[in-house]
Amino acid sequence: MMLEIKNLEAEMGENKILKGLNLEVNEKEMHVIMGPNGSGKTTLTKAIMGHPSLKVTGGDILIDKKSIKGLPPDERARLGLFLQFQNPIEIEGAGFITFIRTAKDARNGGLTDVKGLISRIKEYSKELGIEDKILERGINQGFSGGEKKKSEILQMALLEPKISILDEPDSGLDIDSLKIVAGFINRRFEETEGGFIIITHYNRMLAYIKPKFVHIMMDGKIVASGGPELIERVERDGYDSFKV
Ligand SMILES: Nc1ncnc2c1ncn2[C@@H]1O[C@H](COP(=O)(O)OP(=O)(O)OP(=O)(O)O)[C@@H](O)[C@H]1O
Ligand SMILES: [Mg+2]
Repeated sequence: MMLEIKNLEAEMGENKILKGLNLEVNEKEMHVIMGPNGSGKTTLTKAIMGHPSLKVTGGDILIDKKSIKGLPPDERARLGLFLQFQNPIEIEGAGFITFIRTAKDARNGGLTDVKGLISRIKEYSKELGIEDKILERGINQGFSGGEKKKSEILQMALLEPKISILDEPDSGLDIDSLKIVAGFINRRFEETEGGFIIITHYNRMLAYIKPKFVHIMMDGKIVASGGPELIERVERDGYDSFKV
């Protein structure tokens, strides 16, 4: 098992948000998590990445059978975890190539093939419809909402994570961009050994992506797991039908 989340409990400030959450993600598996606003989906991504604002009060998170609970975010990234933020932040200064190269060097001991990296940036940017010149600015600096989402998906593809966690990669994308991004994620999924966790509210992306595993999260826990039929149930009956 690549990623194992066992009975995870976590607090934000005084609020208990994660209340005994279990999830397992293996190589080459795509998992979709759906759930009402405020159910704790983004909090779960923060717990996996080791966000300092979150207090993990119980349970464990393991990568390749080793607990990562005490590790800071950069070490988790080095182990191959990647998080695409629901609301990507802007980073002043560092240009895209430098940023990616530094991140890759940290994982491979400085052996990044820069020429190869640049040609992949060009290839993927073209696929995603990202204009070359925006990558000369700081990371996400002055990017539109959709450009930020695409830039983060581009980072993910270049870093080739073991586990890619995408928090609403479809939000804020226009119809054409949605199709492009979904197709891009699907191709990267097919050609890597990595596992994917995709958080989404709608099945519009799922016209292009066919996840085998779907989980419903409510009030800090996974309350149902199954296949794509759960997505149809959410669309038809809403989340009330999952209340226990
Ligand atoms: N810093 C904080 N202090 C206290 N409570 C917080 C803090 N940050 C988030 N929360 C609460 O944690 C709960 C879960 O939030 P979270 O962002 O994980 O939800 P979500 O499932 O991602 O929702 P959405 O679908 O709207 O993105 C919410 O009730 C939120 O108000
Ligand atoms: Mg969220």
